[in-house]
Amino acid sequence: MTKKTILITGGAGFIGSHVVKLFVNKYPDYKIVNLDKLTYAGNLENLTDIENAPNYEFVKGDIVDDSFVFELFSKYQFDGVVHLAAESHVDRSIANPNEFIKTNIVGTVNLLNAARNIWNDNLTGKLFYHISTDEVYGSLGDEGLFIEETSYDPRSPYSASKASSDHLVRAYFHTFKLPIVITNCSNNYGPNQFPEKLVPLAINNIKKNVPIPIYGKGENIRDWLFVEDHANAIDLVFHKGNVGETYNIGGNNEWTNISLIHALCKIMDEKLGREKGESEQLITFVKDRAGHDLRYAIDSSKIQNELGWEPSLQFEEGLDKTVDWYLANSEWLEHILSGDYEKYYEDQYNKR
Ligand code: NAD
Ligand code: TYD
Repeated sequence: MTKKTILITGGAGFIGSHVVKLFVNKYPDYKIVNLDKLTYAGNLENLTDIENAPNYEFVKGDIVDDSFVFELFSKYQFDGVVHLAAESHVDRSIANPNEFIKTNIVGTVNLLNAARNIWNDNLTGKLFYHISTDEVYGSLGDEGLFIEETSYDPRSPYSASKASSDHLVRAYFHTFKLPIVITNCSNNYGPNQFPEKLVPLAINNIKKNVPIPIYGKGENIRDWLFVEDHANAIDLVFHKGNVGETYNIGGNNEWTNISLIHALCKIMDEKLGREKGESEQLITFVKDRAGHDLRYAIDSSKIQNELGWEPSLQFEEGLDKTVDWYLANSEWLEHILSGDYEKYYEDQYNKR
């Protein structure tokens, strides 16, 4: 196997930590450098399994700091970049867009500039892999799926910042011939997700017997994918994807929020030994999210046909595994539910 030094950004976050673990375990000849600022969403406890691995190194730093990013690239001479670092929560982008512009747009440009500068004309075997979201395509009605050619129509500050970074990554490919690849993935769920997102928030609230806040009527639809299936897709695209291409990744697994929460309540009743229907009593409809996208759904036939990827888990199975993980890891949850999160929760939900 070729020896490579790979930079993974945002590797202490939800998806990034699964990608770091996969790469460190699967590729002992690679050196994996995880660059993360450790914002509220970054947590080194996600990585305890591999923190002492000889082919792993953690670097704390901010992708918005261009001179730091340049020095890092000069020091390590990376062969590849898997870029996941981002501000990732739509509700936070509505409350305070500025951090999203800095990290998601300026941070991405800093990484692109550093890669361009270090690789110069020596581009063989190099790859800048940008991880993006299906939210850049906007909101679907009842019919249709997002394909790779769907026009961008981002509608939240989060998705607008991700769309902007995607455009910049493509611009560096066309203008400077930087070898890039982009994937746009649907909603992930699974172990280690910060409990501001719907699935872990609902699990945590059901466990604590407090209201589960559902925006609007709960009719919005998302296409859910188990995080390890996403990490496997990232591994595949990093090694087999074609330079300059975009691949959509999705679970082919659409659920309205309310039916997802019903499924979760049923699983939780069984696991917690509650009466059938008990947890559903906690469902509480609250004021809708501003500009709430109605439906996301991915057509992932390109990555399936060209690279042979497909999701491995059925949704019920994935939810079951996820609930088991959260119930078995209450310490992980307690450590991150600091005063900062409590303040966020208070601001976010008490005004609804
Ligand atoms: P996350 O919020 O859990 O993790 C983001 C990580 O980035 C954290 O560890 C954080 O500390 C780090 N980070 C933030 N700002 C930084 C900065 N300025 N410098 C360095 N590190 C910084 O996010 P996630 O859910 O794991 O998402 C990872 C990536 O995947 C994002 O780019 C996101 O847009 C994309 N994505 C997420 C989903 C999803 O459902 N969660 C779906 C599709 C795509
Ligand atoms: P979220 O997990 O924030 O992901 P995204 O907005 O990126 O899709 O939300 C998933 C869906 O759940 C979305 O339609 C908003 C909704 N939602 C609620 O109804 N209540 C909540 O408390 C949260 C966080 C989300």
